[in-house]
Amino acid sequence: METKIIRNPSDADLSIVAEALRNGELVAIPTETVYGLGANGLDVEAMDKIYAAKGRPSDNPLILHVPSIESIWPLVKAVPETAMKLMTVFWPGSLTITLEKSDLVPYRATGGLERVALRCPDHEVGRRLLELAGVPIAAPSANISGRPSPTTAEAVFRDMNGRIPYIVDAGPSNVGVESTVVEVHDDAVIILRPGSITKEMLETVVSTVTYDKALSTDAKPKAPGMKYKHYAPDAPMKTFVGSPKDMALAIMDYVRSGDMDQGGKIGFLLSYEVQEELGRLGYPLDKQSVHIFGHHGDGLSLAHDFYRSLIAFNEDKVHYIIAEGVPLEGIGVAVMNRMEKATNGDIVYL
Ligand code: TXA
Ligand code: MG
Repeated sequence: METKIIRNPSDADLSIVAEALRNGELVAIPTETVYGLGANGLDVEAMDKIYAAKGRPSDNPLILHVPSIESIWPLVKAVPETAMKLMTVFWPGSLTITLEKSDLVPYRATGGLERVALRCPDHEVGRRLLELAGVPIAAPSANISGRPSPTTAEAVFRDMNGRIPYIVDAGPSNVGVESTVVEVHDDAVIILRPGSITKEMLETVVSTVTYDKALSTDAKPKAPGMKYKHYAPDAPMKTFVGSPKDMALAIMDYVRSGDMDQGGKIGFLLSYEVQEELGRLGYPLDKQSVHIFGHHGDGLSLAHDFYRSLIAFNEDKVHYIIAEGVPLEGIGVAVMNRMEKATNGDIVYL
């Protein structure tokens, strides 16, 4: 199959792609978080194609994407007041809510669960496509299962070339990490996956907001996808969190210790400040693969650049990755959740 990238799509282009989606084809779609691999969310065979193209475990449910709050009515049994408040405040946006599904939603979309995940993306092209499609679009991140999520059409192409007919290219995703997934109850929400809509933001609307225990313990996660290996670059990765000075010293110690194989290139994901400290200490970065995300502690910039840099390190065939983390607050919780998976837990708090 030939994969066509549609750049800066016109409305006419989007109509063609919307038709393909309605007819059961797969289309990679832009959203503000990451690119999604879209299929008609009411069509079981179309969704089967998603699992095949991604190599995704079949018990991992999909998020149904909709263009508006109104479009969820046929898909759910009831809309608790809390859910209504959340949608009013945070949609369109990076918040996915799970609600009891109606009979219209196939179990293929929910991995057999009674709840369906719903999200209205904050992306003009993405939403226009959803409107034109006229059906909910099931869309996991458009990467091969286990690999970093794509935030550009080029990254989608690398994983999906030959597997899907269309990629709609609307430039890089703004946010860079996947949506916050919450389970909504009458007067409480549980965060199943952290994202750019933070706990603090949710608390402005709902009094009781907790994290799913599985995010900090070995408990079984309520979001089945959270149990799988995820977001992993090809090379092993280690993350340090601390002041620029402490981090630079720890990195120097580490790269010069016997713990690391000394051949080949290292991928560095750093802030300006840590790069500067390493320079001051006389550690040369010029022969390495270096990605500067922004200023020290800037979780938003790190989120934005996270997957892009991992994919660039894969391209550069680095043999090791050293990354800078951020404190566990605000969007930092989401970034560090992805780091935890990408490093296989190898995070050092200094
Ligand atoms: O930002 C995003 O959410 C992106 C873009 C494309 O919208 N999509 C995305 O989908 O990240 P995916 O499939 O890679 O991740 C969906 C997560 C998984 O962890 C899955 O287990 C969880 O949401 N999920 C989906 N339906 C669920 C349900 N009914 N109950 C609990 N968790 C659910
Ligand atoms: Mg994913």
